[in-house]
Amino acid sequence: MTSLPNSTVLVIDDNEAVRTAFDVLLSIHGARVLTAVSPADGLSRLGSEAVDLVIQDMNFRREATTGEEGVALFHTIRAKYPDVPLILLTAWTHLETAVELVKAGAADYIAKPWDDARLLTTVRNLLDLRRARAEAQALRAQRRQARDTLAGQFDLRGIVYESDAMHTLVSTATHIAHADVPVLITGPNGAGKEVLADIVQANSSVRAKPYLKVNLGALPNELIEAELFGTETGAFTGARARTGRFEAADGGTLFLDELGNLSGSGQAKLLRVLQTGEFERLGSNATRRTRVRVIAATNSNLRLAIREGRFREDLLYRLNVIELEIPALIDRLEDIGALARHFLEPGFTLTQDALDALSRHPWPGNVRELQNTIRRACLLSSNKTIAASALVLPVVAVQPAADETALDRSTVEQALERAQGVVAQAARELGLSRQALYRRMEKLGLKA
Ligand SMILES: Nc1ncnc2c1ncn2[C@@H]1O[C@H](COP(=O)(O)OP(=O)(O)OP(=O)(O)O)[C@@H](O)[C@H]1O
Ligand SMILES: [Mg+2]
Repeated sequence: MTSLPNSTVLVIDDNEAVRTAFDVLLSIHGARVLTAVSPADGLSRLGSEAVDLVIQDMNFRREATTGEEGVALFHTIRAKYPDVPLILLTAWTHLETAVELVKAGAADYIAKPWDDARLLTTVRNLLDLRRARAEAQALRAQRRQARDTLAGQFDLRGIVYESDAMHTLVSTATHIAHADVPVLITGPNGAGKEVLADIVQANSSVRAKPYLKVNLGALPNELIEAELFGTETGAFTGARARTGRFEAADGGTLFLDELGNLSGSGQAKLLRVLQTGEFERLGSNATRRTRVRVIAATNSNLRLAIREGRFREDLLYRLNVIELEIPALIDRLEDIGALARHFLEPGFTLTQDALDALSRHPWPGNVRELQNTIRRACLLSSNKTIAASALVLPVVAVQPAADETALDRSTVEQALERAQGVVAQAARELGLSRQALYRRMEKLGLKA
C-alpha cells in the first residue's frame, strides 16, 4: 500500500475532520502528512519542512465563504515555493475561482466532498512528476559538473554539448590526445568532426607544433598528392618546387579531412608515410622523412568502400588505431538547445515553441545546419525574441535511408554477430546510424 513513499504532503485546512481524513488516507499509502489549521500555520510549516505537495482549503473561518483567504494563501505559496505542486480544496459552488487558480499555476483542484480514489491518483501523479523533474535536474547538474571538471583539466576548444554521448566522446578524445597514434574521426556532415580534431590536437604533446589541415575532397586528385607530398620543379607542366603538407607539418599534426576521397595512388603513398615516415616530392627521387601525427576525418562509410574495393583495408587499420564516432545531432537531442543558444547573436533569446520546433527537426545537416538556421533567424528577425515561425525550418521527409530498408535479415544478423551484439559497431559497419539500425532490427524482429 506504500504508493506514496518518501514524500511529505502538507494539508492546510481549518476543519479537523478534513485534516484527519487526509492524514489517514495519505499515511496508509506511505506519505508523511503534515497538517496546519490556518494560512499562517501552513506557511510556517512550509518554512521549516521540505514539503513535496500542498493541499489547501479556500476558507479558514467558519463564517468565511468567499475564498479570499485561500486565494491569498495560494499566491503567497506560489511566489515563495514555485516548484511545490499545490492542490486546491474547494466547494463545488466555487469552482470558477479554482479554475482561475489552476490557470495561475495550481496543479489541480478537488471539489468537496472528494472521491478518495481520484484524490490518490492526482496526488500520486503530481508526486511522480515532481520526482521525475528533480531527477532530471540532478542528472543535468551531474553532467554539467562532469563537463566542467573535464574543461578544467583539458582545452575543450569551446565545444558545446549536454549529452552523455558527447561527454564520453570528448572525454575519450582528450584522454587519448597525448598518445602518438593516428586518430580517425567519423560522423555525418556538419556533426563536428573538425571541432573534435582540434580538441585532440590542442591536448596533444605536440600542441605547440605546426597544425595543418588538408581537405582531400576540395582538390582534384592530381593536386592532392602535390599538396600532401610537395613537388619538384617540372614535376608536371607549370610545377614549381613546393613543400608538401607532410613536410611542413613535421613534428606536428596533420588533419586530413574527407579521407574517403583519396585516390588509390594517394592511399598507397599515405600508407607508406604512415608506416615508415618516408615520402618523395612529386618529380623527385630523393626520399624525405617526416614525423607527423595524423588525424583523419570522413563522413563516408570506409568499410563499405573497402568491400567495394575503393579503399585499402590496411590503410584503414593504420589510421583507426583510435576511432571516434560522432553521433548525428538527431541522436543526441539534449545538445540541440545548448547549441542553439550558443549560436544566438548577443541579446537574442528563443521562445519555448522555437526550442520545441528545433527538437522536432531531423537535422540532416547536423550542427552546421543548426548554426545556419540560428544565424539566419537572428539576421531576419525583427525583434530579439525568436519564435518558431522565425526559424523557417524546411520540411524534411523523415524517411528511413534507402539502404536501411534494403538490408535483409541475415546481413543484419551477421553484422551484429561480428560486432558481438554491439549495435553501434554493427551500424558503423553497415553504414547506418544507430537509430536506423535499431529501426531495421525492430522491423525484422531482432533483439540486440
Ligand atoms: N559541439 C559543438 N559545439 C560548438 N560548435 C560546434 C559543435 N559541433 C559543431 N560545431 C560547429 O558547427 C560547424 C560544423 O562543424 P565541423 O566543421 O566540425 O563539422 P564536420 O563534421 O567537420 O563537417 P563536414 O562533414 O562538413 O566536414 C562548425 O562551425 C563548428 O564550429
Ligand atoms: Mg569537416
